[in-house]
Amino acid sequence: MSIKTLVNKLKHSFEPATGARYDAKVQHAGQQPQLLEVNKWVLSKTVKKLSGIVGLHPYPFDELMLMAAAFQYHAPNVVIDIGTHIGKSARIWHELSRGLDIPAAIHTIDLQDPQHPEYPGAEMGRFIKGTPVIQHLGDGVEVAREIIKAHPEAVFLMFLDGDHAYEKVRRELELAKLIDQGCFLVHDTFFQLGAQYNVGPYEAIQDFVRENQVKQVVHLQTGLPGMSYLGLS
Ligand SMILES: C[S@@+](CC[C@H](N)C(=O)[O-])C[C@H]1O[C@@H](n2cnc3c(N)ncnc32)[C@H](O)[C@@H]1O
Repeated sequence: MSIKTLVNKLKHSFEPATGARYDAKVQHAGQQPQLLEVNKWVLSKTVKKLSGIVGLHPYPFDELMLMAAAFQYHAPNVVIDIGTHIGKSARIWHELSRGLDIPAAIHTIDLQDPQHPEYPGAEMGRFIKGTPVIQHLGDGVEVAREIIKAHPEAVFLMFLDGDHAYEKVRRELELAKLIDQGCFLVHDTFFQLGAQYNVGPYEAIQDFVRENQVKQVVHLQTGLPGMSYLGLS
């Protein structure tokens, strides 16, 4: 091996900022990275188990992975899940809290509106029966505002999966202005130019981040339904 190759090899196996060896299996050992980063090999095992409980619909593997990554990275004290429906996302937060040993109060909110096209009727919250998840009936934004007000110091994980109209998602994103620490995850955000499906959630994020300070944005852009992460801290 030439001296040049050896020097390059060494250069790439050290993190200049910390001096810590960058081992693919021990990312940023002992330090919280500045942006979203988790050990995906380890977390995949949790996600595999999770998929056995909630299946892969409506959240395929990559979306379960993003949910788990955001949960592990931010370690929220409070989760606010807008759009309970049958309770799969709320059950995911509960399983992640248990499986990753990160205690969190999990709130899930849905309208009690039989006129809404997605109203689940008697199936509402089926996946969270018997769990400590706190179920609320009401408008997501109004209920969320009260929960946020009651926990001024908390780290929040906000999950938006209610009505997917542009204006509704835009209104929900405004909740970020009440929060100092944590992140948002938004469902159904896949975007394709000229697409026939609803691109409202994606456009709502684009407009929100143009006008407000968001630390990091990650869009899973490989197909429907799509999920986006907005890191606030
Ligand atoms: C796509 S489903 C949510 C799926 C759910 N997260 C799950 O994992 O099973 C959308 C739900 O959002 C609810 N919803 C619509 N508008 C809402 C609002 N303003 N506040 C709270 N929930 C709302 C609907 O009633 C419906 O049950």
